[in-house]
Amino acid sequence: MALSLTKENYVLHRIHSITGVIPVGYYMVQHLALNSFSIGGEAKFNGVIDFFEGIPKHVLLAMEVLAIWLPLIFHAVYGVFIVSRAENNFFTTKYKWSHNRMFFLQRASGLVIFAFLIYHSLSTTGYKYATGDVERLKFAAWHEFFSNPLWVLVYATGIIASSYHLGYGIWNFCIRWGITVSEEAQTRIQKASALIFVALTLLGWGVIAGFIINKPGAAKTEAATAALVQPLSVATR
Ligand code: HEM
Ligand code: HEM
Repeated sequence: MALSLTKENYVLHRIHSITGVIPVGYYMVQHLALNSFSIGGEAKFNGVIDFFEGIPKHVLLAMEVLAIWLPLIFHAVYGVFIVSRAENNFFTTKYKWSHNRMFFLQRASGLVIFAFLIYHSLSTTGYKYATGDVERLKFAAWHEFFSNPLWVLVYATGIIASSYHLGYGIWNFCIRWGITVSEEAQTRIQKASALIFVALTLLGWGVIAGFIINKPGAAKTEAATAALVQPLSVATR
């Protein structure tokens, strides 16, 4: 199979399509779900971070490289290549205008995520590996970070772009792989995509809200209160 850097490649496009759903799409859903522990407060969120930090270093690194970085880097780089070629003939005139618009937005959102993820992964995982410091990943740091509305805006945008990209990516995926063939099935999956888009956006924005609403130090205060209450209850028995 001859590869060309200027031409689309059928097999690479198929691999690109699959990696968008598994593992990258799956990773994003579980990532936002785990981060939503911020809504439960500092102790709950830090519990998740500590769980991952408790995994032996080389096992965690191997998991990250194989299950996240390699598929994501491939998907991202090939995605930029697809966009740069502006090959918008997937849906041509035989599809509705609204389909073309959604398809265009799905590609445009890919570029937004590209920029967001370079910043986001370097400032979290990248920072952790460069400095050995995990405090940046913990609740108090996020609470402080989101006291700046600019960062709230950056993350809110990264989240909505990723949610749109995945939601409508699933719709594209189902058509590409012939999972939805009839007009009726495509309408149904389009509704499901809209639902996934809205649900993931709300989940992600909820993560940010959790960091803003809950105060760090609450876990320590709870522990301190429990320690205070215990001898008191003993004394009053
Ligand atoms: C408020 C929302 C978010 C928070 C609080 C958050 C938090 C984190 C944290 C703490 C890490 C470091 C994990 C570690 O190294 O152990 C991380 C890494 C990462 N995040 Fe996010 N994230 C958010 C949104 C997103 C979004 C929308 C995406 C899009 C897919 C994303 C993709 C990634 C990726 C690819 C990594 C690097 C993966 C790794 O090597 O572990 N994150 N994030
Ligand atoms: C990091 C930057 C990213 C870029 C530049 C990018 C780019 C693209 C592009 C251009 C497409 C359309 C492919 C086509 O026209 O055939 C696409 C599809 C897709 N992407 Fe991404 N993407 C990125 C990240 C992500 C992430 C983080 C996810 C998961 C949350 C994801 C999930 C998907 C899915 C499910 C599809 C549909 C696959 C298909 O068309 O069959 N992508 N991506």
